[in-house]
Order: sequence, then C-alpha cells, then structure tokens
Amino acid sequence: MRLAHCSDLHLLSHDGAGWLELANKRWIGAANLLSNRARHYHVAAFDDMIADMNALGIEHVLCTGDVTNLALRQEFEFARGKFDQLTGGVGNVTVIPGNHDAYVAEGVGLFAEIFGPYATTDDGWAWSAADADGEDDDLHWPIVRVRGELAIIGLSTSRATPWFTAYGRAGIGQLARLRRALLDPRLAGKVRVVAIHHPPAGRRAASKIRGLRDHDSFAAVIAEAGAELIVHGHEHRNMAESLAGPHGPVEVRGVVSGTYLHDKPDKTARYRIYELEGGKLRSDHLRIWDREHHVFVKDAQPIASADLAANYGT
Ligand SMILES: [Fe+2]
Ligand SMILES: [Fe+2]
Repeated sequence: MRLAHCSDLHLLSHDGAGWLELANKRWIGAANLLSNRARHYHVAAFDDMIADMNALGIEHVLCTGDVTNLALRQEFEFARGKFDQLTGGVGNVTVIPGNHDAYVAEGVGLFAEIFGPYATTDDGWAWSAADADGEDDDLHWPIVRVRGELAIIGLSTSRATPWFTAYGRAGIGQLARLRRALLDPRLAGKVRVVAIHHPPAGRRAASKIRGLRDHDSFAAVIAEAGAELIVHGHEHRNMAESLAGPHGPVEVRGVVSGTYLHDKPDKTARYRIYELEGGKLRSDHLRIWDREHHVFVKDAQPIASADLAANYGT
C-alpha cells in the first residue's frame, strides 16, 4: 500500500479571512501574509496535489499540520473543503494540527471542530481519564488509526505560543500514551508511523524558538518502544534524521511545504509517497509541483542534497 505524506499547506482563501476580525498576535501573521506568504503559498498547488493523489489512488494520505495560517474559522473551513475533495474520504486521510493551527488559543478548538473527522482515533483506542497526566492534558491525543499493515500514531504538539515563537510540546501524558500505543501488542507486525508537526530530531528540534521542547523525552520513548518511521513538517524542508530505536535507528523524515513556490528549487511544493509491503517500508519518492502544467510529477532529483547535508552531521 502507499502512504502519501504532505505538510504545511498554509491554505489561504483570498476572500475569507475577514481581516478586521484579527486580534491579538494575528496582526503579525496578517502582516506576514500580506507582505510575503500570499505570494509564495499557492492554493493551486494543493488543488493539483489532490488531483494527483486521486488519480494515483493513494491508499492513505497523511498531513502533518499547518493547514492554516492564522487559525481563523474561515481558513479551517476553506481547508476542510479542499481535503474533502480527496476521494479516500475521512477514514483514509489523517490530519494533525501544526502550530499555525493553534496560532491563537481558540485554534485548538476550531481544529477539533472542523478537522475532527480527519483526526479520529479507532474504536478501542480512546484514552481514559486514568491515562491523563496534568490538567491541560488533552486525552484525544495521540490518535491511533490502523489501516491494514499501516498504523498511524498522530500527535498534537501545537499550542498557542508567545509572539515570535513557534515551538511545540508533546507533554508528559501524551508521550506516556505514545509509548503505550507503540508497545501495544495490537500493533505488532504493523508499520508504525508516528506523525508529529515539529521535528523531533536533529538540531532544529532543539531550537528554543521553534523546536520541540520535549524532544529528549520523545527520543526516550522511541529508544524504548521503537517505530518504523517518524514523519514531520514545520521546517518546510526535506529533512532526514534518525533517532535510536531498540533494534537500530528509526528514520525521521520531514517534507517541504505542499504549496510553496519561490526561487529556491529545493523548496518547490512536493509530497512524498512511501511504499509499504509485507509489514515493512520498501521505498519512498517525492512528487513535485509543475506549476506551468498544473500537475505533480515524479521528482527527478528527489533529494535536495545541500539541504540534507546540512541536516546530516549536525
Ligand atoms: Fe508551516
Ligand atoms: Fe509549523
């Protein structure tokens, strides 16, 4: 089966934002959008990606967050309308939130309300009060979705953060539940794919401004429980890191924004397809946006070597 991973769509409806409603730190995002983002993040790329995924009949689509820019209701509804065009349907498309989807506190609730069907947990996997740790522990997370040999465990690391910051945190309770899920005998023999918005490995994970605050605790869970793959977004880069697992390194892969187009070919909109077979990951490749022809095509040069080199060995 094939798993498609996309991220950081930052979908912007040109008629829906209602700028006068912006409050708190949204003005920063608004200024950012108006001066920069709107020119570089193209809804048309996601339209073309959806058509590509539908034409290929991708079995499962996984998006690791930042579907919006400012966590406005209109943005969530606009993005939801796009995801609803994927023919796999809500059961075969998984979306977790990014920091932009929690740009202000109400974003967390709006994500749950509007994207909830794409972030359900399977029957038998709901967490109970006994699994809680701390008052602000959201027992919805992590979600567990098992589809054939694929088992997605999706985390939420997103919370409203102070101005000019974009860090994330999984939290003690969520990491304890991640450990339990990864070790659960029901997932034995499955390809366990952990989805998280913030990169959990490498030097970018350690950034105080935009990293994963509890990346060490996340790494400890993986060291004990393992996983077959960890995917993330947030950095808008093709990244390859690894974390130690009980039986060897676990790959940690990031992907560029699915809607970005600028003068850097490395960062042109892409998504990645993983091939799974016999309970194992067999291969992966990127598909890149050809804006002129309104299509995604197989990336002839799939790895931005300079970018990867910057991530290896650091
Ligand atoms: Fe992003
Ligand atoms: Fe992000």
